[in-house]
Order: sequence, then structure tokens, then C-alpha cells
Amino acid sequence: VTEVIVVGGGIVGLSIGWRLVQAGATVTVVDARLDGRASTVAAGMLTPVTEAYWGEEALMALTIDSMQRWPAFASELESVWAKPVDLELSGVLAVGFDTDDVAVIDDLHQLHEKHGLASERLRAREVRAREPLLAPQVRGGLFAPGDGAVDPRLVVRALAEAARSAGAGVVTGTVERIVVEDGRATGVEVGGLHRRADVVVLAAGAWSSLVEGLPAVVVPPVRPVYGEVVRLRARTPGHTPGHVLRAVVRGAHVYVVPRRSGEIVVGATSLERGYESTVTAGGVYELLRDARSIVPALDEAQLVETSAGLRPGTPDNAPIIGWSGVDGLLLATGHHRNGVLLAPITADAVASAISGAGLPDVVARACAPDRFASTEVRS
Ligand code: GLY
Repeated sequence: VTEVIVVGGGIVGLSIGWRLVQAGATVTVVDARLDGRASTVAAGMLTPVTEAYWGEEALMALTIDSMQRWPAFASELESVWAKPVDLELSGVLAVGFDTDDVAVIDDLHQLHEKHGLASERLRAREVRAREPLLAPQVRGGLFAPGDGAVDPRLVVRALAEAARSAGAGVVTGTVERIVVEDGRATGVEVGGLHRRADVVVLAAGAWSSLVEGLPAVVVPPVRPVYGEVVRLRARTPGHTPGHVLRAVVRGAHVYVVPRRSGEIVVGATSLERGYESTVTAGGVYELLRDARSIVPALDEAQLVETSAGLRPGTPDNAPIIGWSGVDGLLLATGHHRNGVLLAPITADAVASAISGAGLPDVVARACAPDRFASTEVRS
């Protein structure tokens, strides 16, 4: 039996722990806080189509593959947890506020056409017919029928429960270092104690580059990308949008995620400000300003919560998944804007790598840990 320690108890670390224990490994997931940090701030957009970008084709293939895994992943979790995780797969409307914003939507639609992704371009009248709460100023948009959302807070709770009930340890503790002996990871140090393992998986999100004990060449190039999110609750029947919305508003990006519970999540700012995670008045103001430009009825909603999380960004926006240059150390980090969406494929890929079957091609192509190593130029 392989003994595995997973460093990081967010949606990625817990998904990995769950899949590994199901595959017969002895698993401990360790995190200083088990609320999942970025995972519990995230809105839970599952948007491989409406959040696709030119030049990120390998990442796009990965997000599309993981999206296909979400329905089975969610229903398996729900059957263990006996509660819903609010998976919503009824499509996402992406809209542009002014003419320049619609040009951004057109550019996105061209990307969809080039790759044969399901996406329907809609005129102003057509978007409003689909979503009557949209402001009359909205100039146009597109509908991506395969995109959706899930509630990451519910998923994290369900995963912790599922992993524990399958026999994994899910424990609170600060990993002081990954212990490397003779070039091999032999476990982690927690509370001054060396906890031994055959394999260590580093899945510590934005904190992955701060864990001590690793040779510099192995430290993943992950940086924190700050994002603020606002949670609202509609007070008037009929004031909740019927769709997950993404919008470009005077050049800024905002999304609005309605949930069955009545919660409406508005996100997210995106800033490089180190490990700072204070919610700012200006960030919340901008989110609400842009969201209510698109859906004026949000003015009436109750303001329930503001929060900020740190996305684990990488130089090319794709995650880092696979064996590192240290034997016994596997990296599963750097999921940036896509941690929730990519949790199912990341967990399956890590389980496959540890079983010796290797990584699925779609993961190997986008996520190789050594792709950022500087190339030696010979003259
Ligand atoms: N995928 C949404 C975000 O990162 O804000």
C-alpha cells in the first residue's frame, strides 16, 4: 500500500486525497486551515467556453476534458454526502455592455468557432429575451450551453466527508517543510515531527512556492493572484437572474452566479498584490458597480458577505501537474482561475501517475512541471 501525504486541503488537495484513498492508498491531507481558502472564496464558475482565451489552447483542451468529468464527479460526491453540491449545467450567458465590450464578445465567439465549441451569438434583443433582468443598455452577447457553475463551499465539505469516510485522514496542521533525504521526498514536518510517506503531493495553491525544504529548481513558480468576491441574496421574488452571467462592462470583467439557495455571487477582481488578502472598499465598489450595470435589480439585494482569496497563478496560466525533479514528490498546483473546474481531472491524473499508469495526454501536454525551466542556449 502506498502512503501518501497531500499538502493542501483546498478543492484540489481534497479531490486528490479522495481519489487516492479510493484507489487503495493510505492518505493524509494536511492543511493549516480546512476551509479551503481560494476554494471557499471562489464563485465556482465551470466555464471552459466562456473563459477561454486565444493562445491557451492546451489549457482549453484540459478545461473541456475536466468539464466532462464534473457530472459524474458531483453525483458520486452527492451520493456519499447525501446532499446536493448545486451543480448547475444550464449554460452561461456572456454579455457585452457597450459596443467595445461586444467586440470582446465577438472575439471570444470567433475563438469558439475556430475550435468548434458550442456557442451561439445573440443580438441585444435575443440576450434580453433569455434573461429579462438584463439592463436595456446591454448590446449583445453569446450563449454557451455547456458551461455552468457549482458551489465550491459545498464541494469542499462534501469532499472532506467523502475522503474521511473512505478512510483518509484530513487533518489541520502547518506543514513546516517537505523532508527530502538523499534526493527523495520522505514525508513532511508538521509540528516538529517527521511524518513519513512514500509520496508527497504538493497541492498548496498560492502557498505552494513557500513550502520549505525543496531544492530551488523544484519549487513551482506559483504566485498569488488576488480576487475579491461579493455574496448577495435577492430579497424580492423574480430578482434573481435565471442564468450564470459573465459580462464585459466598459472593459472590465464581472460575473454573476445565482444559486438555487437564493445566493448570488458576484466576482471577481484580479490583482497582483502579494499575499495581502484584505477586502478593499474600491474592489467591492467596482464589482457592484459593474454587476448592477448589467443587472439593475441587484441594487435591491441584501449584501451578505465580502471575501478575498488568492488564486495560484503560473507564468502561462495553466497548472503544474506531475512528478517533480525530486523522487516521490508530485506537484498539483497553479490552477489559477480554474481550480474548481480542473479538480476532477487533476485528481484522476494524480491517481493515475501514482499508480504508475502515467498522466493522461491532455494533462501531460498542458501541465508539465519542467516546462518553465530555462533552456540552455549553445552558441
Ligand atoms: N474563474 C473565475 C476567477 O478566477 O475569478
